[in-house]
Amino acid sequence: MRKKIIAGNWKMNKTIEEAVELANGLKREVGGCTEVDVVLCPPFTALKSVSDIVSESQIAVGSQNMSSEDEGAYTGEICHTMLKELFVRYVILGHSERREYYKETDEWVNKKVIKALEKNLRPILCVGETLEDRESGNTEKVVEVQVREGLKGVSADAYTELVIAYEPVWAIGTGKVASAEQAQEVHAFIRGIVKDMVGAEAADAVRIQYGGSMKPGNAAELLSQPDIDGGLIGGAALDVASFAGIINAAK
Ligand code: 13P
Repeated sequence: MRKKIIAGNWKMNKTIEEAVELANGLKREVGGCTEVDVVLCPPFTALKSVSDIVSESQIAVGSQNMSSEDEGAYTGEICHTMLKELFVRYVILGHSERREYYKETDEWVNKKVIKALEKNLRPILCVGETLEDRESGNTEKVVEVQVREGLKGVSADAYTELVIAYEPVWAIGTGKVASAEQAQEVHAFIRGIVKDMVGAEAADAVRIQYGGSMKPGNAAELLSQPDIDGGLIGGAALDVASFAGIINAAK
């Protein structure tokens, strides 16, 4: 049985003071939760404060990006050593916002995935189609390329560590959630690709999260689908009650 994983991607929100308040609230509400893996991904500036707060709880910390390089002249970048120093365990990689605004390519994202695994960080690889892709019948084609290219060279045993997040771009921050059937269909498709790439055991073990307007009200139905193993939450992760509500739905 795959353990559900609910991660909050705070994106470019929360000052340190606000992050501390949110992390304290979540620690109070869900800090002892062992049935579901709970991950908070604050902006880099709040990583240390959030990490300190949740250190004595069941909550893990993730970053929203990571450099593919080890160190050196890469202005504005953050590398694995810096993240591990702050007890970061997960790294969101290839989020559609980074692909769109910062032109991250599959090849680049793949370098980051490989680096993260090599350094014992758990990648959350994001994939998903745009509205245009979906309307032109290209969802599977687009998602397949992102999965195959993003996970190129990853060994079968790493699939217990890494997480794939299916985030249809048209559902992110729009309030337009994919129906449970639509999401399940793509999740099963992704699991099939993993099976084809590295075998049934890895495909069975890998956790695939759904992301895109997940809220306490729609979480239970999405999370009850056989291939949906959790959620990557944006807007609803910025508030204690709504994020805790989704975690409770995942239990
Ligand atoms: P929303 O939950 O705000 O739609 O964002 C989803 C997302 O992009 C998480 O990474």
